Amino acid sequence: MAKICVIGSLNIDLTVSVPRFHMPGETIFSNDFKTFAGGKGGNQAVAAAKLSNEVMMVGKLGDDQYANFYIDLMDDLKINHDAVLKSKDAPSGIALIEVDETGENRIIVVSGANMLVDVAQIKNYLNRILEYDIFLFQLEIPLEPMVYLVEILKEHNKIIILDPAPARELPDELISNVTILTPNEVELGILSNMPTKTNDDVVLAAKSLIARGAKKVIAKLGSRGAMLVTENSNTMVPAYKVNAIDTTAAGDSFNAGLATALGKHFDDCKAIRFANAVAAISTTSMGAQGAMPSLKDVKEFFNKIKNGQI
Ligand code: RIB
Repeated sequence: MAKICVIGSLNIDLTVSVPRFHMPGETIFSNDFKTFAGGKGGNQAVAAAKLSNEVMMVGKLGDDQYANFYIDLMDDLKINHDAVLKSKDAPSGIALIEVDETGENRIIVVSGANMLVDVAQIKNYLNRILEYDIFLFQLEIPLEPMVYLVEILKEHNKIIILDPAPARELPDELISNVTILTPNEVELGILSNMPTKTNDDVVLAAKSLIARGAKKVIAKLGSRGAMLVTENSNTMVPAYKVNAIDTTAAGDSFNAGLATALGKHFDDCKAIRFANAVAAISTTSMGAQGAMPSLKDVKEFFNKIKNGQI
């Protein structure tokens, strides 16, 4: 069991199934609307907890019904949420999500209280945070507290995984202080300002981040798999094929799977295979957190692959 701390966003996902993504000015019907817990940070924490890790979440919610819903959920999963604060100055974050018939999604995030996570909050909980070994970050909270904490974690030789999603400009100091960057191909394109269409493009774009100080880049390439790029190597680890219903949070599940596997001291390629399995399984029902697997589920998945059932 690894000790994993997630610093990031907690959203409530308002999810609508659509037959297809529609055009500007067009009105279409949906026959399915559901409310789920989400947010890239919360999703990573939930996925890591379902994989039997000891998990702490650091973030901010509003002082509203949605916050109580999320806190109850974290209690159920035994996620330590002492450092999840409730703010009276902004509502809990919301994500408006459309999922089409192929399982692809479009997301609009209204950040609310997530954007109030600050350095003071990190300082107040720093001793508790430093009890953990592996750290998961994303980009749905302000950069300042992240840059501050990552610097300290680096000094303590912690494993730091940054999923640069949603993509934005990042300072080189942050890029070089993290242990692993896990962009998808769109985010890699934005971060590197280079094309990422082909595997060769991906390698060149990832190498440009390595030239800026990144140590390892694992590019999440959806149904193609994940490409591990270091200064001297690049290795493609293929994805597993499943019947995807909703790909929301597949990337978040991948990061949690990666952290879990690194906590078990798997080598990088084995860790990515494990993460690919977690991500694939997570897409097999509706909702960001709907199909996130337990360790037992992942084991059964690998058994099915071995027996040719997948
Ligand atoms: O990565 C998926 C998540 O992105 C959703 O749960 C949504 O809340 C947005 O943050």
